[in-house]
Amino acid sequence: MTYAAITGWGKCMPPAVLSNEDLSTFLDTSDEWIVSRTGMKQRRISHVPGIDLATVAGRRALACAGLAAEDLDLIVHGSCTFDEQVPNSASGVQVKLGAVNAASMDVNTACTSFLYGLSAASAMVRTGAVRNALVIGVEVISPYMDWSNRNVAVLFGDGCAAVVLQPSEKEEGLLGEQLGCYADARQILRVRGAGGVYTNRGAQLGNTLWDFDGGEIFKKAVKGMALASQKVIARCGLTAESIDLVVPHQANLRIIESVAKHAGLPMDKVFLTVQQYGNMSAATVPVALVDAIEAGRVRPGSTVLMPGFGGGLTLCSHLVRWGDRVTPLAASDAELPPCTRTALELVNDIRARKGTYDASADGLLWPRFAEVDAAQ
Ligand code: ACO
Repeated sequence: MTYAAITGWGKCMPPAVLSNEDLSTFLDTSDEWIVSRTGMKQRRISHVPGIDLATVAGRRALACAGLAAEDLDLIVHGSCTFDEQVPNSASGVQVKLGAVNAASMDVNTACTSFLYGLSAASAMVRTGAVRNALVIGVEVISPYMDWSNRNVAVLFGDGCAAVVLQPSEKEEGLLGEQLGCYADARQILRVRGAGGVYTNRGAQLGNTLWDFDGGEIFKKAVKGMALASQKVIARCGLTAESIDLVVPHQANLRIIESVAKHAGLPMDKVFLTVQQYGNMSAATVPVALVDAIEAGRVRPGSTVLMPGFGGGLTLCSHLVRWGDRVTPLAASDAELPPCTRTALELVNDIRARKGTYDASADGLLWPRFAEVDAAQ
């Protein structure tokens, strides 16, 4: 039987750090409130579009796997933040990578987009439809954030990571997954007015409306991730004790602790990044996975459980068996262009432009990117 081994991994985090203190300069909030309710200390704000983060993460993942961009047969772009409705973002990454032989598709299931993308790509590798696949989890939420709404503005950050899948005859890669969706509750997490200013001439930068019932989402996230985890562990013929590492969606430290308790998974097996990156939606799981590998928490043959939850309300839990290799075959020299502004300056720029941006004026989605384009 053919499996889809994870042979490459790489992340690309925007360098600008937004602290809780930064948020309290324009919101009625405090470091104490945010840390005690969410565990978050800081998050990143991107100075470049998501496609650029994904291209650098993709190059790093390809180098790690020892592959060239031309070797790719498939690119899956998991995200719910994209700048254009059409064409898809995966094709934007494809052209920047020079992956001339690849097919490209976007997957949007909100925060679970990377994991649903991992399911789709693993299935395609296993059937032989494609050989080498790049699966990306990327989110640049900052331009679509309602920075006047403290219920949501403190929770999210930008980031990206990617993995490479290749066929293997060994039992490794994705062993099983439990997917689901509490669609009846889809209205409790909804962002209106985003989805690209080109498609919504009237919807301007940051001019979004977030419907967000934090308490209800909290309860459904705990129930969904715990149940999905129990089901996939049983389906794979394993027990909670046999899981070596849990790399969960990082929406809130208290959600993660509650999922671990309900699923019988001790917290010392749970890998956390929520403190330093916040909730990066589709990027949280792959970024945490890359950090866990780099921290030596993933060993040859490790069983890794990845529970996820997001808008929809989509839910899932993925069980992966790691292969023999936990070190990269090579490193890429790909880097982002330098960021010349602080995260607070970037956010204040978005806030100042809210309601004033004219998409027809200069053809550029984010005026702040004009500087980046000029520098390249
Ligand atoms: N700073 C200070 N006070 C705040 C803030 C803030 N940033 N945000 C809300 N408050 C206030 C509210 O106004 C409210 O005040 P009130 O009681 O006077 O009306 C109070 O704090 C809210 O308290 P609680 O609802 O009890 O806060 P809770 O402990 O539930 O935490 C939170 C709220 C953080 C949103 C929590 O419910 C949560 O994490 N939910 C899950 C959210 C999430 O992660 N969703 C995304 C998952 S899916 C995805 O990733 C897209």
